[in-house]
Amino acid sequence: MADERVAVVTGASAGIGEATARELARRGWHCVLLARRQERIEALASEIRGEWEVCDVMDRAQVDDVAARVLARHPRIELLVNNAGVPGRGTFVSVEPDTVERVLRTNYLGGVWCARAFLPGLREAAENGGSAHIVNVVSVAGTIAFAPAGPYAAAKHAQLAFSRSLAATLRRERIYVHSVLPGFVETEGFTPRSTLKNPLMRRFVIEADAVAKTIVKAVERNRREVTIPWFPYRLVSIAQALVPGVVAQLGGRFGYHPWVQD
Ligand SMILES: NC(=O)c1ccc[n+]([C@@H]2O[C@H](COP(=O)([O-])OP(=O)(O)OC[C@H]3O[C@@H](n4cnc5c(N)ncnc54)[C@H](OP(=O)(O)O)[C@@H]3O)[C@@H](O)[C@H]2O)c1
Repeated sequence: MADERVAVVTGASAGIGEATARELARRGWHCVLLARRQERIEALASEIRGEWEVCDVMDRAQVDDVAARVLARHPRIELLVNNAGVPGRGTFVSVEPDTVERVLRTNYLGGVWCARAFLPGLREAAENGGSAHIVNVVSVAGTIAFAPAGPYAAAKHAQLAFSRSLAATLRRERIYVHSVLPGFVETEGFTPRSTLKNPLMRRFVIEADAVAKTIVKAVERNRREVTIPWFPYRLVSIAQALVPGVVAQLGGRFGYHPWVQD
């Protein structure tokens, strides 16, 4: 236990976070699982011999309290995976104002609060020739202004800017920050196979396990930014940088079935 590397994974009760915790445990990491649904993280923690803490990442005071408790048990944190997130399907005019706030507070600010709160543990791990890592689970929506999920894309753009700037801020301290940008992934909260209208877009939907493996590889190989799957999303991201108006216009023609709105 004393020599085990410690990873904190947010949003570990389902989907990509759960798969990442399992993958890390298989590779010998000791995982501290954070989410709001206690029964889920408690069960997973007992299965992978980890620990859990109920935590709503939207609540900065709660994040600080949870981090203080975790750091008291584990002064060194080698890895923080900022994964907790919610969908925000619908346009800026169709969704409720609450949705705009929720996606911003969870998908962007949640990661900011966790990075700041766990920084003392990451710094401790990086001292004396060691290193530490933060993985921010962003989305290709961080590089593509996808109008059918406008508030979600805006929050993910903010999260990617946060992730890139934090990488530059912490690099000299040997705390490496990685941005992982998945395309559509079939999970409990995001169900693109049934909600996306376009059959071509549905063909590129992947599973959470593939993203989990990419997250672990990004840490092991020190990859700063990874898009999964590379095709077709990387090409669309490049097109967005070159002809943003055209890409936004085209993206607006695709999207979700009319009954999907959150
Ligand atoms: N699935 C996709 O298509 C896709 C694509 C690109 C990026 N992503 C990103 O991947 C990440 C994980 O998504 P997923 O697809 O795995 O979704 P998911 O299956 O719905 O899991 C989301 C996780 O986030 C947690 N969570 C949500 N709000 C939270 C809050 N306020 N505080 C703490 N935990 C919270 C949930 O736990 P509790 O409800 O128990 O709190 C759950 O564990 C998100 O950041 C998402 O934006 C997903």
